[in-house]
Amino acid sequence: MSDASGANPLRDPADRRLPRIAGPSGLVIFGVTGDLSRKKLMPAVYDLANRGLLPPGFSLIGFARREWEHEDFAHEVYEAVKQHSRTPFREEVWQQLVQGCRFVQGTFDDDDAFETLKQTISELDKAQGTGGNFAFYLSVPPKFFPKVVQQLKKHGLADQKEGSWRRAVIEKPFGHNLQSAQELNRIVHDVFPTNEVFRIDHYLGKETVQNILALRFANTMFEPLWNRSYVDHVQITMAEDIGIGGRAGYYDGIGAARDVIQNHLLQLLALTAMEEPASFEADALVAEKTKVLGAVKIPKDLGKETVRGQYAAGWQGGEQAVGYLEEDGIDPKSKTDTYAAVKLRIDNRRWAGVPFYLRTGKRLGRRVTEIAVVFQRAPHSPFDHTATEELGQNALVIRVQPDEGVTVRFGSKVPGTSLEVRDVSMDFAYGESFTESSPEAYERLILDVLLGDANLFPRLEEVEQSWRILDPIEEYWDKHGKPAQYQAGTWGPTEADEMLARDGRSWRRP
Ligand code: BG6
Repeated sequence: MSDASGANPLRDPADRRLPRIAGPSGLVIFGVTGDLSRKKLMPAVYDLANRGLLPPGFSLIGFARREWEHEDFAHEVYEAVKQHSRTPFREEVWQQLVQGCRFVQGTFDDDDAFETLKQTISELDKAQGTGGNFAFYLSVPPKFFPKVVQQLKKHGLADQKEGSWRRAVIEKPFGHNLQSAQELNRIVHDVFPTNEVFRIDHYLGKETVQNILALRFANTMFEPLWNRSYVDHVQITMAEDIGIGGRAGYYDGIGAARDVIQNHLLQLLALTAMEEPASFEADALVAEKTKVLGAVKIPKDLGKETVRGQYAAGWQGGEQAVGYLEEDGIDPKSKTDTYAAVKLRIDNRRWAGVPFYLRTGKRLGRRVTEIAVVFQRAPHSPFDHTATEELGQNALVIRVQPDEGVTVRFGSKVPGTSLEVRDVSMDFAYGESFTESSPEAYERLILDVLLGDANLFPRLEEVEQSWRILDPIEEYWDKHGKPAQYQAGTWGPTEADEMLARDGRSWRRP
């Protein structure tokens, strides 16, 4: 049973102990033959079904060019689930899910295919009881977003009928710069009402990212220190060991900054730096995030306060890795950044003078995402200076992934010595403290879409602010030279180390 929003009216939405189960509904995936769909979306749908969070009769429609029958599609979903789902395979869950699997073959400008999609949806409404409630997931290259939403409108697929809903789920990046994001927004909103548009930033679906708010606002011990009086600087790192794999078509011309700084890293910055929201409802969260992003100052000296890099051949995990320019499908003259680092300042009372260093890259030393809040040194040290030679700065590190948790680093007396102080760590690890394993980000986000819960989806205001920050940086890079080279398997270009060294700091080596 569900109301028009997709939520079950019999449960008290405020009671967080009850499972949030989606009402009658279905999901249409455009670009269903792509990597994201196979590795993340299909497995997430199965995991939700396995956890009993999907309604009986839930339906999954794949839309793509491939000449598949329904059975071929069902087989692909099966393979994807077997390989990539988080929860164990259960035949009875699969048998139920497969009842609602359908495939529609066509290209995005094929009117007949959209008519077939329309018929398929009506049939599923009758056969599976989906109640006309469908979300359209655009897991397609960004250049196709406008076409797909326009086709949905033209074929009446986006019509919001009394008592049911139609939603659009749009993968990142939302636009290529501020202007194109606003234009895309206009096109999408011409078809779907604001509250039925869900822009994906899958980092917001990660448990550890949601935990930033719990850590900051459910406790008393961190927030008093969370400001310019105690914090020296903040480092936000998203490092990947993989290269671009089979994603040349998507990645070349987009690059690291547009791919992840514009969305994931600026969202992490916003959650780390924002003020306490009045509530955890979408409006209140967006207001605070937008406010703090609005206070981010664009670096004055873009040549010194930003660095971009591109990986050259090297060694990674004992294997030889080719350079970016030698990857399949990459223009050998490409200037696309596979590494980006920026120094940002936040012009407000809490953060004045505290730099936020953001960096990301492919083919770096290892896969790790973390937010390190590095504190100032004690204003005075009563110890001999030899006693504190091995004492670094206190730090609180939110380990987003892998090895999810939080580390606090501080100085402690070395046993036995007269009085020598050295850095030690105190760790919280999700794996040790909780018996439940964390859901995948896409499980959470797909469920939220079906429930109509927009808290974890960036709104246009946030997207606009992110492009405001990134556009001048990209423009500067376009006009000035080429990305610095770094060897695969290292921690990025030396220019990035120099950027911090100029401030008397260094990057953490997680
Ligand atoms: C995606 C980027 O948003 O995030 C990819 O487009 C990147 O380039 C991926 O590899 C990383 O996601 P995760 O969840 O593995 O950190």
